Amino acid sequence: MSDNKIESILNEQRSFPPPQEFIDSATIKAADLEALYAKAAADYQGYWGDLARETIHWQKPFNQVLDESSAPNYTWFRGGTLNVSYNCLDIHLESLGDKTAIIFEGEEGDTRSLSYAELTAEVCRFANALKASGMEAGDRIVIYMPMVPEAVIAMQACARIGAIHSVVFGGFSASSLRDRIEDAGARAVITADGGHRGGRVVELKAATDKALAGGCATIEKVFVLKRSGQEINMQEGRDLWWADAVADQSAECQPTFVDSEHPLFLLYTSGSTGKPKGIQHAAAGYLLNAKITNQWVFDLHDDDVFWCTADVGWVTGHSYVAYGPLAVGATIVMYEGAPTYPDGGRFWSICEKHGVTVFYTAPTAIRALMKLGDEIPQSYDLSRIRLLGTVGEPINPEAWMWYRQVIGRDKIPIVDTWWQTETGAIMITPIPGVTATKPGSCTRPLPGIEADIVDENGNSIDSPEAGGYLVIRKPWPSMLRTIWGDNQRYIETYWRKFNNRFYVAGDSAHRDADGFYWIMGRIDDVLNVAGHRLGTMEVESVLVAHERVAEAAVVGRPHDVKGEAICAYVVLKGERPTGAEAEALTSELRNWVGEELAAIAKPDDIRFADNLPKTRSGKIMRRLLRTIARGEQITQDTSTLEDEAILDQLRGDA
Ligand code: WTA
Repeated sequence: MSDNKIESILNEQRSFPPPQEFIDSATIKAADLEALYAKAAADYQGYWGDLARETIHWQKPFNQVLDESSAPNYTWFRGGTLNVSYNCLDIHLESLGDKTAIIFEGEEGDTRSLSYAELTAEVCRFANALKASGMEAGDRIVIYMPMVPEAVIAMQACARIGAIHSVVFGGFSASSLRDRIEDAGARAVITADGGHRGGRVVELKAATDKALAGGCATIEKVFVLKRSGQEINMQEGRDLWWADAVADQSAECQPTFVDSEHPLFLLYTSGSTGKPKGIQHAAAGYLLNAKITNQWVFDLHDDDVFWCTADVGWVTGHSYVAYGPLAVGATIVMYEGAPTYPDGGRFWSICEKHGVTVFYTAPTAIRALMKLGDEIPQSYDLSRIRLLGTVGEPINPEAWMWYRQVIGRDKIPIVDTWWQTETGAIMITPIPGVTATKPGSCTRPLPGIEADIVDENGNSIDSPEAGGYLVIRKPWPSMLRTIWGDNQRYIETYWRKFNNRFYVAGDSAHRDADGFYWIMGRIDDVLNVAGHRLGTMEVESVLVAHERVAEAAVVGRPHDVKGEAICAYVVLKGERPTGAEAEALTSELRNWVGEELAAIAKPDDIRFADNLPKTRSGKIMRRLLRTIARGEQITQDTSTLEDEAILDQLRGDA
């Protein structure tokens, strides 16, 4: 086996067609989907151009669909002008003004709801407040907020005046906030005194003060929402309470119409090395894909209640909370706090109480809730849920089956949606009323998304067991436009590998005989054992399929003979074992992997921990685990870790 090839050894055969009642009422049926594929294949630009005309309210129509002259800096819908907030709010007022836009639940149980008319009025008031403070189109504004309706109001208000927001997740530290403010050259911060998370108050204003004290010379104004009510400092001339800022503002605000390519937002994501990248998205293309994916993938109907559990600090909270669902006039749920506060039933209690019909969350949350057992979800009425979704990491077949059986009553569809901050919207996914899903596969690319899997030389791979680089062959409307302030890095990171011929996602994947995609992990995480290149995902999935295992992460460390040895970090469903029990379980798990997967995939080391190191968005930090497995000094920034104390356990010191 050549060492350039990635092999797939996971063999998942189960397949679940959508139930007939779902098919009957689905927005996109099999024939519709085939027609969309056919049109995209026959006339790529015509396909996107028509969709853009039908989907978006244009102030001025565009005159060019795609401009490739500066590739890989592509531009879409040149000549057109629009306003994203107008497309999310004003277009609904006549028919849906009284419809609930947001149902909010705070961590302490307070609830509140806003109709489309009320939300629009709040957005306009705050947009006017921003203008009154001198904010203009093109200015960068950082949003550092708890997960409350005002976070969405702030984002929409920025969009309304053409300002470029950069949302920084409320769990980030003062220094992360400072880096992001400085990189963007922001003029204002919108924050709150504090937010509630896991029974504690997250001191957002104090962190903002600390960030600004160390630099951030461009900041002129800080808007502060009163949420937690604790004492904070307000700096005269700079800081302004939200309530005071909007007090005298009109509930009407003429939207600022901007060019299609006007930046809508920046969103910083940590690269595997170096400083965070400010991923820049453009107004029209982003809106188009965010809107159509909410219609096609989440099948949102008039009476649906959509809950995407992501925080607005992540891209998922942009496309499937703050923009996409509002663009289609849906009712969304927002929840401020932790999934397990005050207990592991919180998510299910919210679903029951607010009648959630479409539920979208991350594998990390599913695995955490699965670990708590079936009784908790079974004690809630989840019968209104008719569609489930997942995003953020590969979902292990075991967790997928639990999600289906315990939450989905063993019958409703699951959409495993693959996409990235950079792609702006869902790219590879089942269509719930059409696709027969397989646990662990994100199935097929959407119409108009030319995904492929290529080898080291950029040649398409067709063999079902062979993995390779996941790439996108053609530009698409919601693609990132650049990295803010560093176009060279944009080209190097996403295009250089194959000479600008296609977008390189950085994930490895393989495609089965049905043309379904299976994400195997990040390319950087691929293991090389005795000349076999293996994705981390497959070994992890087999470990998680063992009855005692809740979560697993595998990484490689150098090995004299095999090239790399596999180290597995395992979290069990019950207590962490020690001594003889740990030894017995280690050999049991090694044999299990050998039998279920392949002898070469047997982990050399297995270490048990109470938790795995994860980023704030719930992704396993394999790079950190690799450092630990190699016994090297940790030089990575561990401040974004959820729980620093587990490092000792992982090292084997505790
Ligand atoms: C991973 C989140 C497998 C992948 C929207 C990708 C997934 C990265 C899936 C982007 C999925 C996301 N199956 N892997 N359904 N969804 N990923 O930027 O490695 O936070 O490249 O965007 O998450 O993460 P990001």
